[in-house]
Order: sequence, then C-alpha cells, then structure tokens
Amino acid sequence: MFSVLPGFRDFYPMDCAKRNYIFQQIRETGRLFGFEEYDGPVLEPLELFTEKSGQEIVSQLFSFTDKGGRQVAMRPEMTPSLARMVGSRASSLKRPIKWFDISELYRYERPQKGRLRSFYQFNADIFGEPDVLADAESIALLISVLRSFGLTAKDFHIKFSDRRLWSIFFQLNGISAADSSNILTIIDKSDKESMANDVEKLNALGLDGVIFRQKIDEFISAKTVAEIHEMLINCKLFSSAKPLVSQGIKDLSRLLECIEMFGLQDYMTLDLGIVRGLAYYTGFVFEAFERFGKSRALAGGGRYDDLTKKMGYAELPAVGFAIGDVTLTNMLLEKGLIPDLDKSIDAFIVFDDEFKKEAMGDVILFRSNGISSEFSIKQTDTHRQLKMAAAANAKVVVIYLGDVPDVPGSVLVRRMNDRKEVLTARNGLLKTLEELLK
Ligand code: HAM
Repeated sequence: MFSVLPGFRDFYPMDCAKRNYIFQQIRETGRLFGFEEYDGPVLEPLELFTEKSGQEIVSQLFSFTDKGGRQVAMRPEMTPSLARMVGSRASSLKRPIKWFDISELYRYERPQKGRLRSFYQFNADIFGEPDVLADAESIALLISVLRSFGLTAKDFHIKFSDRRLWSIFFQLNGISAADSSNILTIIDKSDKESMANDVEKLNALGLDGVIFRQKIDEFISAKTVAEIHEMLINCKLFSSAKPLVSQGIKDLSRLLECIEMFGLQDYMTLDLGIVRGLAYYTGFVFEAFERFGKSRALAGGGRYDDLTKKMGYAELPAVGFAIGDVTLTNMLLEKGLIPDLDKSIDAFIVFDDEFKKEAMGDVILFRSNGISSEFSIKQTDTHRQLKMAAAANAKVVVIYLGDVPDVPGSVLVRRMNDRKEVLTARNGLLKTLEELLK
C-alpha cells in the first residue's frame, strides 16, 4: 500500500470540483482586469532561483541533477520564470504587459495548516508601468479576487509597506546597503523568532542589537503617513537625506490616494512590519491576511523594478502578487463560501437489453447536441438504473418502453425536479429533451 508524500495532496473528484470553482472565479476576475493567461515550465535551471529568489526559498527547493548532468529545480514560485519570459521578448510584447497564471509550485516546507509542499498560486503581474497607479491596480485585483468569493473587508485586509522607506530608515541610521538586506530578513522572520535571537543577529552585524531592535519596533509602530514622517525626521542623519524622505512620504501618500480613488481604503492596513522574504522587491510590498486569527498569509506581492535587468535583459518596472490556494480554500470552507458543487448530469438513459442499440444511438445524438448523458454500463434492472439516475443527480430520466398503443417505439421522459412526464416517439426525443431541460 502507498500513501501520498507529506505536503502533497490527492484531489478526489469533489476536491477537484472545489479547485475548479476557485480557479474559474479567479480566471474571470483576472480577465475583468484585462490580464492575459500564460504558463511556464515546471522544471527550471537551479540558478534561476538560487540567484533570484532569495535564501529562504533556496533552502526549500526540490532540486536534483538530471540525466544530462544539469542542476535543476521544481519551480517554487513563478516570478523568476515570468521575468525571463517577459525579459527575453520585452521589445516585441504588446504593452501594457498584464499577465496571470494559475500553476502548481513546490517548496520543501514543514507541512502545517496553510502550508504544504505542493500548492497552487494565482500570479498576476504588470510589467512596464513605473507609476504607483500600477501598484494600486495590482492591489485592486487582489482585493477583487477575494471579494469575488463573497469575502468582505470584515474578513480580510491587505497589510502594506514600502521597502524604500526601510532603505531610507537604514540610511538615516548609518547602516550599509549590505547590512540593510540582512536586517530586512531579520524583520521578515521576527514573528517566528525570539527577541534574543534577533538581538544576537543584529549584534553579529556590529550593531547594538538591543537598541537597534528597539528602533525597528518603534518604526514598525508608526501606523500613519504622518507618524512615519515624524520618525524619519527624528533620525540622527535626517539632514543628510531630506529629499529622499520627502520623496518616500510623497510616494506613500500617492499610493493611498490611488487606493482611495478605487474606494478600497477599508481593506488597507499600513504595517511596516511587512517587508517580504523574497530578495527582488524594490518598493511597495503587501500581503493579504484574514482580519482576525493567526492564519498564514493568503497572498503576497509587491514592486520589483530591477529583476529583468538583473537577469541580463532590458530594465522593466514590474509589480504583482500571488494568492495561494491552500489558505484561501481553508478560509472559504470555514466561512461556508464554496457553493454546493454536487455532480449533476442532464439525462440518464434507462433501457432493457432489447433497446440497447436504439438507446446507444440516442446517447450519441444527445451528447453531440450538448446534452450530457449517462447510462448503466453494466446490464441491470430498471429499478437499479433509476437509483443510479438519482445518484447521478440527473435532470431528466429517459426510459425506453417499447411499443405503446398509438405511439410506436415510445420513450418516457421524466423531469426529476417536478416529476413532469412526456411520452414521445424516438424521432421527437431530442426536441422533448431540449424543451424539458430549458
Ligand atoms: P510568496 O509570499 O512566497 O510570494 O507566496 C505567495 C502566496 O503563496 C502566500 O501568501 C501563500 O498563500 C502561498 N504559499 C507560499 N508558500 C506556500 C506553501 N508552502 N504552501 C501553501 N501556500 C503557499 C511569491 O511567491 C511571489 N513570487 C509573489 C509575487 C508575484 N510577487 C510578485 N509577483
């Protein structure tokens, strides 16, 4: 006997039905926003992720050497593949480049609620648009997808921040660029690590860990644009970078203005503690969470303006996000927001062996006219076939009766919801079915 690998899932038909429902809603919303669907390969050269994704994802890679001696990895995220696809055809792609995909990804994480080793993501990204309106459009799409399932601002919110504000904060505190990215990693992990651990890591960077950790906490406690501005003004090196601070504050205010134009302010929570674990983000970053409780993130994204350039292609500003299917499905199930997706069929055909030939001919006719039809493959009595029709949730049952006086070769069609019955000759069967199924 065999069991599924830890962190992987079997999708039985009911699970597939739920997954398909979720994907269909997402695809529809993506198209409403003018995004086109793309896909990429499951297996990629290992360096695509070791160089572009950042340390955390690299430690979670499913990687191996293939038979040709290549170092390869199962994709843990789509963004590096997407940047390659867009970057390598940047000059010939029609702008704006707004693409989405729904794909299966693999990360060797410790399986736990909301986190598996194989999961799906809906990625949506905009390339070539540096304006903050693109960031707002990206956030608006994320919110619309979640709303399309019936979730509201009472259920979830988007925590957002700006990595550029952190760069300014580090600069105003005399921290080098190299140390800044290490400190961002410490901040990203701080909810999973102890205070003592953070202090130790900061000490290792040559800082006074206790004091700097306190400064970080103070900065994160700023919850409005005005509070952030004031904290930056109070930094010891403020006078050396006044224009940078004004620009940072202006960008943040503009994002908020755009969000308000879309009427989405109730969904947004300014939280500088959101810095994102992936290495490539350069500006605004955001994550969607259930508003209450301690569930893992539903989605995450942000601006990454230099990834294509770092990969050797032309520079293309980019912003996007991904929603994971695991936390989203858990949340929708908990809130009863996945509709009843029981299997149903238009017609179930009931016949004795003597009418098999006619029945099979009609099944082919129904199906070729778009009427989904089933029958019992195993020869069995009428009673059992009617039970099978009920189990299949058939909308109508077609019963071959044989000759009835005055209606030769007759067939009884019964609509199941109101028990309406029509007796018809075989040559009128298709029309009868179409009428009863209207
Ligand atoms: P990410 O934050 O690593 O971002 O993942 C986005 C979402 O995917 C998470 O919020 C979570 O819902 C889901 N997810 C991640 N890891 C797992 C896991 N092990 N099990 C289940 N779900 C998981 C990215 O992947 C970026 N590439 C998103 C992006 C697109 N940024 C710009 N464009």
